[in-house]
Parts: sequence; C-alpha cells; structure tokens
Amino acid sequence: GKVRAPTHIISTISDDRGEEPCYAGVPMSTIVEQGLGVGDVISLLWFKRSLPRYCTQFIEICIMLCADHGPCVSGAHNTIVTARAGKDLVSSLVSGLLTIGPRFGGAIDDAARYFKDAYDRNLTPYEFVESMKKKGIRVPGIGHRIKRGDNRDKRVELLQKFARTHFPSVKYMEYAVQVETYTLSKANNLVLNVDGAIGSLFLDLLSGSGMFTKQEIDEIIEIGYLNGLFVLARSIGLIGHTFDQKRLKQPLYRHPWEDVLYTK
Ligand code: ACO
Ligand code: LMR
Repeated sequence: GKVRAPTHIISTISDDRGEEPCYAGVPMSTIVEQGLGVGDVISLLWFKRSLPRYCTQFIEICIMLCADHGPCVSGAHNTIVTARAGKDLVSSLVSGLLTIGPRFGGAIDDAARYFKDAYDRNLTPYEFVESMKKKGIRVPGIGHRIKRGDNRDKRVELLQKFARTHFPSVKYMEYAVQVETYTLSKANNLVLNVDGAIGSLFLDLLSGSGMFTKQEIDEIIEIGYLNGLFVLARSIGLIGHTFDQKRLKQPLYRHPWEDVLYTK
C-alpha cells in the first residue's frame, strides 16, 4: 500500500501545486472570472468558505471604513515618526501596526466575546456594565478619545445602517446599542466605537448567515479572528502615511520640549 511520509506542516486554506493556486479550493481564475472581491478572498482564506454577497460586502465596508483615521491616532503617529527616521516601508508599517491592541483598534475580539457572553446570559445592559466595573475591566468596544454622544462616529452609523438593511438579524448589535445607551447615561464619551460596532455586528453575521455552526462561531471568537479586520484595514492607511512622509521629504521627528512636563 501507500506509505505516507510524516509532514512537518499541515495547511488547509490554500494550495499552489496545481496549474493555478486555489483559495479554499476555489481557483484563481474563478475568483477573477466571477468578479469576486477582497471580501470573498477574506472569506475563503480566513473562514474557509464562500459567504453570501451581503457578508463579503460588509467585510469590505469594514476594511474601507477602518483604512485610516488621520495622522494623529496612535498607529499613524508611530508610522509617521518611523518613516521620518528614514526607515523603510515595512518598518514604518509594522511600527504603526504594533500600536493596535486593547485600547486602539484591537478591541474587536474582546467586544465580540463580552457582548456575546452578556447577551447569551440574558444580562441587562445595567448588569453587564456594572459587573465589568466590579471586575475593573473597561467594556471593550465602548469609549472614544474624541467621539461623543453628541458627535457620533459616522463609521458606526454606516455599519449599523448597512446591517439593518441587509442582515437577517441584528440582535447582538441592538444589544450593544442598549449597552451604549446605558454607558452614555454615565459619561458622554462612552459611545459605541467602531471596534464595538464591528464586534457586535460580526456576531450577527456569524450567527445570522446560517453559514457557521455554533461550534465554529465559538472557535472564531475564541481564536480571535476579528482584530484581523482592523489590522488589515489600517495597513492601507499606514502604507499611505509612509509614502506621504517620504513624498514630503520630512526630516527626523523630534518632539518639542514645551510639550513635555519634566518633573521629579
Ligand atoms: N468602559 C467603562 N468605562 C470606561 C470605558 C469603557 N470602555 N472607557 C472609559 N471609561 C471610563 C472610566 O471610568 C475611565 O476612568 P478610569 O481611567 O479610571 O478607568 C474614564 O472613562 C475616563 O477614561 P479615559 O482614560 O479618559 O478615556 P480615554 O478617552 O482615554 O479612553 C479609550 C478612550 C482608550 C478608547 C477607552 O474608552 C477604552 O479603553 N475603551 C475600551 C477599549 C476600546 O474599545 N478601544 C477601541 C477604541 S476605537 C479604536 O481604537 C478604533
Ligand atoms: C481610529 O480609527 O484610529 C480611531 O477611532 C482612534 C482615534 O483615536 O480616533
């Protein structure tokens, strides 16, 4: 019979051995000929399946809306400083990417985890928020440095509008909105932010599309796929900021003394 040599790597998402590479079994030519987009490619390579159009469109909207948020945010600032230190594209990009985490852009997975847990356990927004407070954990997906109850994040509104029109159910998002109503009653900066909107809406996408089993949803949430959306999206902007600084021939950045409180 056949003797199977042991392998050092197992891979299940792509295969380049044939005439043309395949993503989750779908040949490149099919992707091009059917006019598929980056949302479809993400579906194949991350979720290992083709998703309905409204899902891939939602993924693409997340990517477009999170691509950049100006030069002042943590990621862009790091990238700009690095580019101005004369570093190459990859160094400037990763310097910005390394700021993505629990406070900045990387709260999507935790938002999904906590909103799902609270919703599935039938916690009222009051019980959820106050239990987080007792544990000393800030609610992921809530709060923003500049957005306020009277100056909402347009990105959140756009995502919500799309989902309300196209998703079969937006129960997790509605729960996140109820949480926001409660947190806004405590402080005006405690809005549902773009991480919280994507986290809650992705729960709706996963559970409402009928494309994933409960076990698969739990695995996606546990592994933490969703911060990948922000990482991927923001790379577009960070690459843009690198080119911008190089084009402008900006000199080495040095922070002004006046802006530092020197104290003992
Ligand atoms: N949940 C509960 N209370 C909060 C939260 C929250 N998510 N955010 C702020 N607060 C309250 C706390 O009482 C906080 O006091 P503390 O420092 O004693 O905990 C108080 O508001 C003031 O907080 P600040 O630190 O002044 O708020 P800041 O504007 O600096 O923080 C931030 C903004 C980092 C986004 C914060 O709200 C937070 O950590 N949110 C959770 C993580 C998150 O969702 N990050 C993604 C943001 S969107 C993006 O990056 C694309
Ligand atoms: C972003 O998308 O970078 C922002 O929401 C963060 C910020 O501070 O504006």
